[in-house]
Amino acid sequence: ATKDPYLEAIPKVELHVHIEGIISADLKWKFSQRNGQAIINPRTGQPFSSLDELRDSHDTLKPRTGNRMNNNEETLSFFEAYYGGFEVLKTQQDYYDLAMDYYEHAAAMNVRYAEIFFDPQGHTRCGTSWETMMEGFRDAQRKAEQDLNVKSAWIMCFIRDESPDSAMEHYNAALKYRDMIVGVGLDSNEADRPPSLFNEVFVRARNDGFHLTSHCDVGKTYPLEHIHQVASSIAGTGADRIDHGLNAAGDADLMKLIKDKDLGMTTCPWSYIRHQPLDEVFERIRTLFDAGIKIAIGSDDPAFMEDTWVSENLLVAKRYCGFTNQEIQKLAENAIKVSWAAEDVKRQML
Ligand code: HPA
Ligand code: ZN
Repeated sequence: ATKDPYLEAIPKVELHVHIEGIISADLKWKFSQRNGQAIINPRTGQPFSSLDELRDSHDTLKPRTGNRMNNNEETLSFFEAYYGGFEVLKTQQDYYDLAMDYYEHAAAMNVRYAEIFFDPQGHTRCGTSWETMMEGFRDAQRKAEQDLNVKSAWIMCFIRDESPDSAMEHYNAALKYRDMIVGVGLDSNEADRPPSLFNEVFVRARNDGFHLTSHCDVGKTYPLEHIHQVASSIAGTGADRIDHGLNAAGDADLMKLIKDKDLGMTTCPWSYIRHQPLDEVFERIRTLFDAGIKIAIGSDDPAFMEDTWVSENLLVAKRYCGFTNQEIQKLAENAIKVSWAAEDVKRQML
């Protein structure tokens, strides 16, 4: 509970959450116990012997709080921890339970519609079939819509440190499930992986009617050129949204481009404040908002932050950007407007 009644009550749309980013130590333990599969402690090479031990380890793998800027070592240990979590998912039931865990949190926060990222390559490389993954997600998606009043769609993210060929192969395999998928994106480690590397698959996805987005650096580590490509050149004319991309706040021309093209930006405060100076983060969020860019607040990876979901992310935005309730309402409306929900669903929510 965030202790902010206004914020709790408003209907929400969440556009930036990774389903794998909710894999907490508790969920890992549940799946591994059920499947009779030990989880190996990377520090000792021995299986974890209790949930407490696993929880402690999970906590130490989280990105550090403090005023350090992004650095590669930190990024790598985050991804190690993150992709390590995929290994506990074995059965359709696991995928169903994982998605239901998100939907139950969403319902409790009055989230009415969500677009949820998933990383198919991370699952297939653990030996999981598309059917196991997608049918688990599909059953949960149906159940959430029927019983929890949460509608949703999926965004397939390509792991950008895998090859463009792998992205294309996964794109082809995903077409069987295209009724569940509204868009494609890029995530994982951005170092030396500009969005343009994946242009071919973005072109195909656009031609097939998918929406496009891409993660761009939240700090200042990677070139603004990556945001430029997402905004104006991938798939010929650029994507529909930018994930993170806070960096754009330092470049008036780029902000103007984003505003003129009416691109949505997804913004996840807790992902930034764990490793960047607080004042810088919120100043940049405020700058984008004040420029009239439609930013929408999301949670990214709640289990790797401080168990911080979309409500907690809205709460820190409110507190540190000084957003009024009216401005919080505007953020909520932004999320609806830049979502890829069907027009009638959007109208109902606005
Ligand atoms: N950054 C990039 N890729 C990701 C992240 C992130 O924070 N979380 C899940 N995939
Ligand atoms: Zn993300």
